Amino acid sequence: MTILITGGAGFIGSNFVLDWLAQSDEPIVNLDKLTYAGNLENLASLQGDARYVFKQGDLGDRALVDCLLAEYRPRAVLHFAAESHVDRSIHGPEDFIQTNIVGTFRLLEAIRAYWSKLPEAEKTAFRFLHVSTDEVYGTLSKEDRPFAETNPYAPNSPYSASKAASDHLVRAWHHTYGLPVLTTNCSNNYGPYHFPEKLIPLMIVNALAGKSLPVYGDGMQIRDWLYVKDHCSAIRRVLEAGVIGETYNVGGWNEKPNIEIVHRVCELLDELCPKANGNSYKAQITHVVDRPGHDRRYAIDAHKIERELSWKPAETFETGIRKTVQWYLDNPEWVRHVQSGAYRDWVNLHYTEEVVA
Ligand code: NAD
Ligand code: TYD
Repeated sequence: MTILITGGAGFIGSNFVLDWLAQSDEPIVNLDKLTYAGNLENLASLQGDARYVFKQGDLGDRALVDCLLAEYRPRAVLHFAAESHVDRSIHGPEDFIQTNIVGTFRLLEAIRAYWSKLPEAEKTAFRFLHVSTDEVYGTLSKEDRPFAETNPYAPNSPYSASKAASDHLVRAWHHTYGLPVLTTNCSNNYGPYHFPEKLIPLMIVNALAGKSLPVYGDGMQIRDWLYVKDHCSAIRRVLEAGVIGETYNVGGWNEKPNIEIVHRVCELLDELCPKANGNSYKAQITHVVDRPGHDRRYAIDAHKIERELSWKPAETFETGIRKTVQWYLDNPEWVRHVQSGAYRDWVNLHYTEEVVA
């Protein structure tokens, strides 16, 4: 038996591949285009491991996906690949439409063709697991209840709109063609191998480099933080026991305003890597112009996956953020390599002229 994953060189995908092979001998085929967010260094420890196959390519390349499905005959496809950064989707939505919507459509069609010809037992056992986001539900006020699976979709950014569209396609391929799908909608992940364009890794690497820590607006936007290894265990559990056609919200029960996150990162760095002059990293915090259309609050009601699949996150925010900060301190070479690539161009494009004096 084999599983095929898309986007396995990205942040969550690479953590998933590493965790999967640490717990199972079932081979895994990783299809990844290697955009700026794909980093094969994350998977360097798997070199020479016969259980792991990497194929560089676009999930929208029908001929390639057909070949991979025919050659490896996976019992499941796990779809992580996406353009995933909200700020990039504001600057340039085109790639988000192509990969997240058109790419998912093409992948679904390739899988439908493969699945429909499988022998009956394999057809029954097959699963397509679609990894999505809580951002499809829109934004919450402080008083609102956290997002449940029954919340209506109300995406606000080009990123979340493209993910919402992909969720709808996946749902329709189940209802119309009977494809055995599972969908997960998770909250903000954090942990090792997180590309430093997202809040937590950006704050860690900027702090260590003596750069400013750009907090959007008042910093009181709330996110629900999920340690990436907990997300991986939830996906494994949904794949194993999820009910076909159902969606599962995955969250960490860790709602926090951004400014609190940034303060905690600084405090941990003050403790684990104190500055020679005794100053706190907090002195580097700057408030910059807010993101257009910035969602105020996300929060996940993760009761369904707990009740039906007995899944709960293992990490608290305190244990997860400590591990994360320590990982970045222990892996300066990974950070250096990431920073020497296209990442630098992106930071220049995005933050110059935006800093509020
Ligand atoms: P990421 O941006 O770190 O990685 C995405 C990966 O997909 C990269 O390796 C990239 O090369 C690959 N990719 C992009 N376009 C491709 C294409 N056309 N064909 C093949 N590969 C392609 O993203 P991530 O943070 O690991 O997120 C993984 C999934 O989880 C995404 O679907 C995202 O929407 C979802 N998600 C992420 C978070 C989060 O906090 N990071 C939260 C909720 C949901
Ligand atoms: P991000 O990591 O981009 O995830 P998302 O937008 O998908 O939730 O951002 C998390 C929060 O942090 C979000 O409210 C925007 C904010 N943020 C900053 O304040 N400064 C930054 O430099 C970045 C990248 C994000």
